[in-house]
Formats: sequence, C-alpha cells, structure tokens
Amino acid sequence: MILKDEDFLRLAKLIKAKYGLDLYEKKYLVESRLKNYVLDCGFDDFGEYFETVYADRSGIEMTNIISRLTTNYTYFMRESEHFKHFTGQFLPAAEKVKLNRELCIWSAGCSYGNEPYNLAMFMEEYFGIRHRQWDSRILATDISFNALRMAKRGVFPEQALQELPALWKEKYFVRNSNGTYQVTDAVRNNVVFKYHNLMEPISFKKQFDLIVCRNVMIYFDEQTKKDLIDRFYNATVPGGYLYIGHAENAPKGIKYETVQPAVLRKPLKGG
Ligand SMILES: C[S@@+](CC[C@H](N)C(=O)[O-])C[C@H]1O[C@@H](n2cnc3c(N)ncnc32)[C@H](O)[C@@H]1O
Repeated sequence: MILKDEDFLRLAKLIKAKYGLDLYEKKYLVESRLKNYVLDCGFDDFGEYFETVYADRSGIEMTNIISRLTTNYTYFMRESEHFKHFTGQFLPAAEKVKLNRELCIWSAGCSYGNEPYNLAMFMEEYFGIRHRQWDSRILATDISFNALRMAKRGVFPEQALQELPALWKEKYFVRNSNGTYQVTDAVRNNVVFKYHNLMEPISFKKQFDLIVCRNVMIYFDEQTKKDLIDRFYNATVPGGYLYIGHAENAPKGIKYETVQPAVLRKPLKGG
C-alpha cells in the first residue's frame, strides 16, 4: 500500500493547521507509522481511510493518527539546568513572594510524564515536610492520548530511572512485581494530566507562575512558535517564567526577557 502525494499533502496541510506539526518533509515517516494501523482498520488504501477520518465528526480517529505521528521522546533529568534554576531560583523566590502558598506550574507537551513528575520530585525535595502547606499541583498536557494514558499510569522501566539520584528510586517509586517502577501516589497526586492542543486558545482559570514547554516547539514554524509564546505570555503571572528547550531559539519580538539560556521571564511590570 502506497501513500499517494495528494493524500499525504492533504493530511499534512490539515495537521499543520490544526496541531502545528510540520510533516511536509516526513512523508516516509507518515507512511511507515500509519501503514499497519490503516491495514488493521480494514482499509487497503490510505485515501479511503483518510476520507473516513475527515468525515468522523467526533475527531477520535484524528487523535489516533496524531498519537501515532507525534514524537514523544522524553526522559528524566532532561536539560538539568532547568531543574537547577527551578530549585535554586524559582522556588526560593516563590517562597518569599507567594504568601498564599499557591503555585501554578504547567508542563505543556508533557509526553509520558517524566517532565512533570520530575518537577514534582524536585518540589518535594525542596520543600520537604513544608510541601503539605502548599497547593502546588502541576498541570501536564499533551495532544497524544496514548502518551497521556501512559503518563497517568506513571509506570516506568527500571532503566528510565538511571539518571535520577540513586535514592529517588526508593523515595519516589514503588517496584512492581514485574520489575517496573510506579511513581508513588504522593508524587502522582501532585500532577494533573489533561488533553490540550497548544494551537488552541489557553483558557485555564489561573495564570501560571511557571510554564515548561520543552522540545515541543521544534516541530512548529516560526510564526506558530511566536503566536504560542505570545499566548504563554498572557497566561503567565508578572515575574513568572517560561522554560523552553535548550535547542530551541526564542523567536524575535516576544515580550519575555531571557534571564539565562532557555529560561525566559515575564517582567514584573509586564502587561
Ligand atoms: C519530544 S516530546 C517532549 C516531551 C518533554 N517536554 C521533554 O522535553 O522531554 C514533544 C511532545 O509534544 C507533544 N505535542 C506536539 N504538538 C503538540 C500540540 N500541538 N499540543 C500539545 N502537545 C503537542 C507531543 O505529543 C509530544 O508528547
């Protein structure tokens, strides 16, 4: 079964407009990741399958495609400079100014949950017993239902824990009988997973003290990236932060100021 150019281009155009993902150079990836699934669904032609997807008003079939086409690569302690900033600058400053002891943190594009769980663990390390006095649940969102399902389970193979400090394996995980590791309830309860498409308006009730959006915008073009960062800016409290991936460049003309590589801050008087 071959993916015809016209079928591919129609899909790529729709996905770019709706999800921001630029697949134009990735025809082979689209074909190879979808082929078996399309055959399993009983189609022997991509075009026919796509017609049913476009006709499916529930959008469920499109989310199946998206789960198959997104790159969900992630790991614990990724870009550890951010965690240094988090515990060395962000949390100490928050402790001084957040008199209501409420922290709003958003891991946008959280994949399998390593990133938000890692932040929750660092928070637990930082606050220790004082953590109970804080309302600090982390919102973690993605467009891949498959990634979100796995993230919610919070089960990881032993090798995924390699980069974490040795003690954390005992402290923040429970070993399952099959040798996998489950994040403890205390950590899991600190993270709320939700579906959110970053191409859509941000309508969460509160503004965020910290938004972490790393290795997501690499798949977006400059304008899409700029528009998203502007939406993040409006959703950040004055003095709040945005962490982006170290391999990503902040687009020109954004209102955040860069305080160190991949750490952006909304000025205290930022509107
Ligand atoms: C490479 S992973 C990065 C995970 C994590 N932030 C990290 O740095 O390890 C990128 C994630 O972004 C998600 N993503 C891509 N486009 C998105 C969109 N439009 N809205 C929400 N999430 C998106 C993907 O599903 C994927 O899980």
